[in-house]
Amino acid sequence: MVMSGLREGAAASPADQLTTTPIAGHLGVEVEGIDLGSDHSPEITHALRSALAKHQVLVFRDQSLTPESQQRFGESLGSLGRHPYVEPNAAHPDVVDIITNPDDTSNFGGGWHTDVTFLAEPDLGSILYAVDLPPYGGDTLFASQAAAYDALSETMKGMLDGLHAVHSASLQYGAGGYSTKASAVATAAAGEEGDSVHPVVISHPDTGRRALYVNPGFTTRIKGMRKSESDALLQFLFRHGVREEFTCRVRWRPGTAVIWDNRSVMHHALHDYAGHRRHMRRVTVRGTRPQP
Ligand code: SIN
Repeated sequence: MVMSGLREGAAASPADQLTTTPIAGHLGVEVEGIDLGSDHSPEITHALRSALAKHQVLVFRDQSLTPESQQRFGESLGSLGRHPYVEPNAAHPDVVDIITNPDDTSNFGGGWHTDVTFLAEPDLGSILYAVDLPPYGGDTLFASQAAAYDALSETMKGMLDGLHAVHSASLQYGAGGYSTKASAVATAAAGEEGDSVHPVVISHPDTGRRALYVNPGFTTRIKGMRKSESDALLQFLFRHGVREEFTCRVRWRPGTAVIWDNRSVMHHALHDYAGHRRHMRRVTVRGTRPQP
């Protein structure tokens, strides 16, 4: 599929050369025809942002990104985000190296989550680049929260409308949290800056498409409900949100880069390659306050 058709009589623009091939039914395309390290024209940026909003996960093969060129590509999409609890690359404060060593038992990004929803303005998306891969495994799973929302009954949609949920950094980055590592720059304490409240269903800022916006990584409770009610509803939404038909799976190859839309997907980094090293490099693009 060509991403933006040529208008009759119009000169071909670089964006017209981009093609997309779906990798699953609800989300995810492989994009060909772009060098992420150098193609940063406004037309390309516009085409990529539209494709991201529509397909939610964009996969680019055979790229060659340095920390600098990955950062420049991120800047072409928006202002870069900085993670409050994760140590950045020493020379590039907007770049994070996600390294799992052969004997590591903890796995950054393991478990379904949406990035940094404990912030008032969570990231728009992430650009992840494969630097060094294990001989097998280490895939990343994505689940479309827009498809998950669409599949709910009108009665459930009506009940979720108007609900808000609390998102906290403490589950992952608090003392004893799942992602606490020696490299963490700080430890989140429950009730400190790590808590934000967001609608349970949000509208995509570019398309208006609605999506579930709760995730097991950071969402702790639904406001205004008893704990037992909130736990039961969240457990249902967490399970429903990652039903197999709403997912796609990215198998990394050296030089693969992926951008995901953090407003409409959850993701999960698999750790099934014990004894091997995996090195990914990540740049994030700042987002806006989620709106119902
Ligand atoms: C992340 O959650 O950003 C990491 C994903 C991955 O390493 O596959």
